[in-house]
Amino acid sequence: MKHLEIMKSPVELNLNDYRMTGEPVINQVRKIKDIPGIFQDEKAYSEMNPDQLAYTVQAWMPVAEGTPGGLFFGVSTIYPGKVGNEYFMTKGHFHSLGDRAEFYWGLHGKGMLILMDRERNTWAEEVYPGSLHYIRDEIAHRLANTGNEKLIVGACWPSDAGHDYEEIAKNGFSARLVEVEGKPIMIV
Ligand code: F6R
Ligand code: MN
Repeated sequence: MKHLEIMKSPVELNLNDYRMTGEPVINQVRKIKDIPGIFQDEKAYSEMNPDQLAYTVQAWMPVAEGTPGGLFFGVSTIYPGKVGNEYFMTKGHFHSLGDRAEFYWGLHGKGMLILMDRERNTWAEEVYPGSLHYIRDEIAHRLANTGNEKLIVGACWPSDAGHDYEEIAKNGFSARLVEVEGKPIMIV
């Protein structure tokens, strides 16, 4: 940029459909076949269309992953659906630098933010348009879509947070969000 120059930011968020456009924006796609092992009902999982979309993530990463002091901005879209009685959900993770926090905010649809601390206490916050969520240090987090429409959630996290998927892949969360009589409940 030049002194006194007035310009547009390189990335924008469409406030109607919450799509990000511009450069650089990365697009991640997670289909049913990309998220094995996270749902309890393995038979129901194996009978699903492997190419069905489970969730997508768009992110603006203005600095290299791992850079201290920077921020990343993301939009996660979780599709409606269930595997057995469990809602479509993200893999879930702790941050690799466990003391790095994150903000989430609900934009569209309805769901749950499932949270678990290092002692494996698990709880959830309702997500809806306008809901704000501070995910503090050392808390694993996962989004589940409990509605019939797309769940769209904004996120902002430190560029050196990283993602530790291993712990959740190995031990899961200590509780599951399932649908019973049409309502989401947490069970162990
Ligand atoms: C970033 C973050 C979100 C998630 C996204 C997908 O730290 O929490 O952008 O990465 O909701 O979930 P995962 O990464 O668990 O597949
Ligand atoms: Mn995160």
